[in-house]
Amino acid sequence: MGGQFFFGGVETGRGQKTVHVVTMKAIILACGAGSRLCPLTQVSSKQLLAVFDKPMIYYPLTVLMASGVREYCLISTPDDLPRYQRLLGDGLQWGISIEYRAQPLPDGIAQAFLIAADFIGSDNVTLMLGDNIFFGGDDFPRVVSSFDGGATIFACRVKDPQCYGVVEFDRNGNAVSIEEKPREPKSSYAVPGVYIYDNDVVEIARAVKPSAWAELEITDVNLEYLRRDKLQVRRLSRGFAWLDVGTINALHEASAYIEAIECRQGVKIGCPEEAALVRGFLGIEQFEDLIQKMPTCEYSEYLCSVADEWHRLKGEK
Ligand code: G1P
Repeated sequence: MGGQFFFGGVETGRGQKTVHVVTMKAIILACGAGSRLCPLTQVSSKQLLAVFDKPMIYYPLTVLMASGVREYCLISTPDDLPRYQRLLGDGLQWGISIEYRAQPLPDGIAQAFLIAADFIGSDNVTLMLGDNIFFGGDDFPRVVSSFDGGATIFACRVKDPQCYGVVEFDRNGNAVSIEEKPREPKSSYAVPGVYIYDNDVVEIARAVKPSAWAELEITDVNLEYLRRDKLQVRRLSRGFAWLDVGTINALHEASAYIEAIECRQGVKIGCPEEAALVRGFLGIEQFEDLIQKMPTCEYSEYLCSVADEWHRLKGEK
């Protein structure tokens, strides 16, 4: 399975060594009032809103599942947590585990590492924002499976860098600075909401001080890795799509984008059941049991077609 790393050996009483397996875990952050999406967010959490045919949260979750990650912690507001629990459950139905933690106040993205410190334990962790949608290529699974310490973040060209964390590169393509929502951005490269860290992130996040916006900024965590010379910034290739669903227009554009690809190609983006089957988290029988429990709808019909294709490829039908 991808996302597992081995380090060190621990002496047991009998002189044998047990190897500590460092796993890649994941935190999905689904907080924020979503005030720019009001009244849609009046009674619904932003990351539960529909992006074309699925709840928004399915998209980041599926990207992580497709990268081989099996252990998740979802962080949301105390009010919204029960809704996520109803939708996603304990994850067993998809061959993963999902724990839940609350962020009572909007105190910043970096607080996630403090809230989920017990979940992270001594492992590595990927943090993904629940309103970020990624599509295209295998950049992300490759980076997760080859991760070997420090921090890896990404950079993506955008028209409005001042709305994001912005990376400045030197002539050799090395990151030299990152600024959070600068008035005068030093480049057009924004940092998308997916970050991969080794276990030092917990200790680093503990030392971060609240910013001028009274939040623990993820940019300050990344700056500390940069200071330690342990930060890798990978530019996403042009064929890669990063959508950040913060405004009504962005939500509509994301839906239209997903619809265009799905209708044209006949595949679904952000389908956790399919990712679970492809990664081997579920066997075909379990996958078909899941379909049986669903009402007849376009989504379950798609899953049936995935199962048919699976049998066809295995020559069983
Ligand atoms: C956050 C981060 C920012 C990053 C962005 C990606 O901003 O602080 O560095 O570029 O997510 O979506 P927010 O969306 O919370 O304003």
